[in-house]
Amino acid sequence: MPRIDSAALRIGSAISGLLMVLFLVLHLVGLVPALLAPKVFESYAISLHRAPWLPLLEIGLTTIALLHLVLTLVKTMTNQRAGNVAQLRSRRLAPIASLASRSKVAAGLITLAFLMVHLQQLRWPRPAEGAERAAVQAVLHQPASAALYGAAALAIGFHLLHGVEAAHRSLGWLTPMNSTTIRNGGRLLATVLAGGFLILSLTFSLGNA
Ligand code: HEM
Repeated sequence: MPRIDSAALRIGSAISGLLMVLFLVLHLVGLVPALLAPKVFESYAISLHRAPWLPLLEIGLTTIALLHLVLTLVKTMTNQRAGNVAQLRSRRLAPIASLASRSKVAAGLITLAFLMVHLQQLRWPRPAEGAERAAVQAVLHQPASAALYGAAALAIGFHLLHGVEAAHRSLGWLTPMNSTTIRNGGRLLATVLAGGFLILSLTFSLGNA
């Protein structure tokens, strides 16, 4: 089996992770009208589904998600085999970021389990035109689904508390000058994404949103 250089693993894992964060931001922004402007949401869903480039985007997204999963797993196993635990310890005495780093495999598994359920609920089959919001509501009215969506939102937020800074470090973009900005930016992004998906899940599950 060909050996992948550890720098390539780090860089691949970082770039694929950051691209997935970009998808999550766009996904959350696309979902906000489901709560605030249902008609806008249905028109957005219809034009998205009719877009000729959507299948390409979906293939790209699947490839990036698989790459992130495989490269990160291989990187973690390679580090463990080499006895390298340095990155598991907090150098900045930031216990939450350190816990987020140690629990990244658990966060990844929760996200993967969520995705398998989520895609079967809302992507295969795709809701009929004009019925996207009703489909989301029907899914989130089930308490088990709502709990899974909430857990995934928290897992993603927790993962990003560590992941954004780690990705910048892997790409060599973290310097003493920008480290505080990147760290705080990562925390803000983690809070906005986790909070946003959590609020959406709760609002749909509790009410007649
Ligand atoms: C409250 C939380 C969420 C809601 C209500 C929601 C809703 C939806 C809906 C309605 C679709 C179908 C879009 C379509 O018809 O093409 C979808 C697709 C998808 N969602 Fe979510 N989502 C949520 C959270 C997430 C999270 C946290 C992730 C990632 C971990 C995620 C990943 C995906 C993916 C990968 C697709 C398929 C995209 C495509 O193939 O076009 N979703 N989601």
